[in-house]
Amino acid sequence: MIISIVHSLSTKIAIFPCFEEKTLSLAAKSFDEKLSGFLSKSLANAVFKGKKGEVLTLSSPHDDFSHIILIGLGKHDALKKADHMAFGANALKPLRELKAKSASLFASDVDGAGAAFGALLKSWQFDKYKTKKRDDVELKLETLQIVSSDVAKDTKAFEEFQAVAKGVFLTRELISEPANIIYPETLTARIQELSALGVTVEVLNEAEMTKLGMGALLGVGQGSIRESQLVVMTYNGAGNDSAPLAFVGKGVTFDTGGISLKPADGMEDMIFDMGGAGAVVGLLAALAGRKAKANVVGVVGLVENMPSGAAQRPGDIVTTMSGQTIEVLNTDAEGRLVLADALWYTKERFHPTHIVDLATLTGAILVALGVEYAGLFSNDDDLSEKLLQASKATGEKLWRMPLDEAYDKDIDTDRADMKNTGNGRYGGSITAAKLLQRFVGDTKWAHLDIAGTVWLKKDSTFAVKGATGFGVRLLDEFVRGFEA
Ligand code: BES
Ligand code: MN
Ligand code: ZN
Repeated sequence: MIISIVHSLSTKIAIFPCFEEKTLSLAAKSFDEKLSGFLSKSLANAVFKGKKGEVLTLSSPHDDFSHIILIGLGKHDALKKADHMAFGANALKPLRELKAKSASLFASDVDGAGAAFGALLKSWQFDKYKTKKRDDVELKLETLQIVSSDVAKDTKAFEEFQAVAKGVFLTRELISEPANIIYPETLTARIQELSALGVTVEVLNEAEMTKLGMGALLGVGQGSIRESQLVVMTYNGAGNDSAPLAFVGKGVTFDTGGISLKPADGMEDMIFDMGGAGAVVGLLAALAGRKAKANVVGVVGLVENMPSGAAQRPGDIVTTMSGQTIEVLNTDAEGRLVLADALWYTKERFHPTHIVDLATLTGAILVALGVEYAGLFSNDDDLSEKLLQASKATGEKLWRMPLDEAYDKDIDTDRADMKNTGNGRYGGSITAAKLLQRFVGDTKWAHLDIAGTVWLKKDSTFAVKGATGFGVRLLDEFVRGFEA
């Protein structure tokens, strides 16, 4: 699909925003006059009210048009960045249904570049392994025109959005690929492609991690025939050598649970257990692609969690790079083991101003928040506030969770410095976060538990069902707050 920003319309399908209580956008109003009130008459009889997410598809009586589509955007005065994007994204549903080849979006009263960005995000589908294309869901749209009153401005803004979309698509693709295709070494190879964008990529193999003493990360990968990897991405866009922002991702390319094996039902979902790493990779691609003026490092711990004769056992005690020891009571609580070493390494090597980690860490976050919100855990109120602001702007929702000292005792154990499970299932996401906290020292740090938001079983505003790319837009927006 090619999106172009243009001055005037030349397609048979015209799409307009409509606000609450059936208020047409300015462009739609003048259009309505030309069509002798067709739009306002149709609206008067419609159930459609212009609420967020509503769509009204009208067959046009006018020769110049086959269809006119109204997209509900809610209240006119309360539009956020994500609402402008939703105008474009929500237009794709009727266009998919109509099997339209071309259409025009009238971006009056809304930001044209934002609408283009939303449509682009929603157009992505993963059909690489469908040798016969699925006619029912395939997007036939070849050109989408955004009719704008300021073509130059919107074109420039859209260029930046396209770089971010590329990052989101990379994340979605990496997550969508099955675990026989994407495993630590092949994921590493994909990450190395970022060097074309000006990102420096370094890879630590098992021998190098052994030297550093990363016993927790290595313990998770030891049951797999695939070699574990730690990949470090650096992007210096600030134009000085100021301390970077760091992003750390859990990259379990497949999580069987290990010896504490998961049930067969739904185990295939665990191809997305590298979703945190996927988001960090996509974020670096987005930032480098749009030439962000910030110094950023990304660190991802890549392992496959398998049961085998070489696998770690419940009861094993591992020594982390920090020197702290962890009793592995459940080999399925592996993400925190990977992050314990990845976080410590990041802190020690880069002394970042802030660390944000992303991980599909716990099933418990789904119990707490469902699939709408990711859990935010942080040792710093100001950092939390910045992340929550970015969350509101982008619509990638975060909900702050507690991290009190009172939970510390839940990961205490007699045999080691800590254990990798909590006490029973209660507060499972919090006890996981508490373990991570012991590996960041005094660094301003936030942990995003994205287990519920990386993969959706039905379409959401900006993604068809499957991988969402959650985290890339959120953290791109967050980084903007640090740019000169
Ligand atoms: N990758 C899973 C968490 C997960 C579960 C993500 C469901 C998405 C959907 C993680 O490694 C895990 O298995 N966590 C365990 C921890 C428990 C054994 C303490 C869990 O949440 O059950
Ligand atoms: Mn697990
Ligand atoms: Zn896992």
